[in-house]
Amino acid sequence: MYIGLDLGTSGLRGILVEDAAPLAVAEATYAVSNPHDGWSEQDPGDWLAAAHSVFGALREDAPEAFAATKGIAISGHMHGAVLLDEGGVVLRPCILWNDTRAHAEAAQMDETDGVRALSGNIVFPGFTAPKLIWVANHEPHIFGSVATAMLPKDYVNYWLTGERATEMSDAAGTSWLDVGARNWSEALLTAGGMKPDQMPRLIEGTGTVGQVRDALADELGLPQGTPVIAGGADNAAAACGVGVMGEGDAFVSLGTSGVMLAGRDAYAPLPESAVHTFCHAVPDKWYQMGVVLAATDSLNWLGRVFGAEPAALTDELGALAAPGPMQFYPYLAGERTPHNDSHIRGGFTGLGIATDRTDMTRAVLAGVCFALRDSFEALKFTGAKIDSALAIGGGTRSDHWTAMLATALDLPLERPAQGEFGAAMGAARIAMCGVTGADPASVMTKPAIAETIDPDPSLRDAYEEAYETYRAGYSHLKAMQ
Ligand code: XUL
Repeated sequence: MYIGLDLGTSGLRGILVEDAAPLAVAEATYAVSNPHDGWSEQDPGDWLAAAHSVFGALREDAPEAFAATKGIAISGHMHGAVLLDEGGVVLRPCILWNDTRAHAEAAQMDETDGVRALSGNIVFPGFTAPKLIWVANHEPHIFGSVATAMLPKDYVNYWLTGERATEMSDAAGTSWLDVGARNWSEALLTAGGMKPDQMPRLIEGTGTVGQVRDALADELGLPQGTPVIAGGADNAAAACGVGVMGEGDAFVSLGTSGVMLAGRDAYAPLPESAVHTFCHAVPDKWYQMGVVLAATDSLNWLGRVFGAEPAALTDELGALAAPGPMQFYPYLAGERTPHNDSHIRGGFTGLGIATDRTDMTRAVLAGVCFALRDSFEALKFTGAKIDSALAIGGGTRSDHWTAMLATALDLPLERPAQGEFGAAMGAARIAMCGVTGADPASVMTKPAIAETIDPDPSLRDAYEEAYETYRAGYSHLKAMQ
């Protein structure tokens, strides 16, 4: 029996599994606060309250299995800064991954010699290091008390075990890690104004953080000494959940944000492409991904404008057709890959007097597909060989959108059969490997595939042409803003 937790941006999901099918599933939500434009914060205490309630619900649903828990691991949203003092007190709200207040600090650190080469990535405004520079600049009284800078999920592990630790996949998103060497980099820490003793102990995702504290184990009803395995960053854990581990494995996800992710057997960074190159949650593996900030969020936005449910909009579309003359640019919250531009905003082009709601929906779906195609092109540029990809995330419930994505990417997409294969499942699998010492390759297998969606050969040229037009659009939008 293993517990996998996924600390998401809007809530915590927990599953209790024996091997594949979950015996119990529980969720608890919490809020994000946006006290100023571009700020995005969460109270780490809310995560602990959610964890309490999720553990309680799992216990209630499957009491015997819960009492036989052999290990716990957690996945979580990346890049957040949880600042602890010497005694473990949280010094300020966590600054989240989608907080852009530190854009100037990020640009400055990104220009420092050697930073991209060591960290393997652009220093994005949402990454952890620039946030600490911001705190040093704007809240020096807090910065002066920072004993440990922790990542969000690692704070939950700290609560469980009393240990200050992190693991490679989350540490890779800080800009303090030498991502190739899988070690904290003194040069990067210096560039970020931090000291090595402010970093948590660094282990692999399948390494052991510690054991659940005795008193907490009693309170939660867990066996005494339950091991807590380090876990992984959300995308790394999601990749573990669907068996995307090494060369040739890939997934494309239509979630709130869109992600195209490829497993890599070696470290092959290409920061200028704005592709993220991070350590995987298992030893000796890396992964690379392109991130589109507003994927299903773009459709949700259109739904709000029309006062319609997103599914109602896609239901109106009928069969997949060639893209029309309209283009939609999904830069509603800026863009990561390939533009690294938090200021750019989206747009529609090609509107006509006859344009209706279905034309606009079609254009929004296509714009998101083309944004993911940008990520795919960037990934190919790093040397990743991708012949097919798993299609996951809420947006892939739409047949129309999935078929459009396969055609826009010119890539066969495999849609998994119903089941639990998200980041919580990945975390449970990490816990299994950590506790039993099993080879991750034997545990992190691919889900059963319900169907393969091939690109539509009759529409390929039309999508290719529309993609070329889309690609040219960014510089025009940029010039107008
Ligand atoms: C990855 C990233 C997101 C967050 C939130 O770079 O910013 O995946 O982890 O999900």
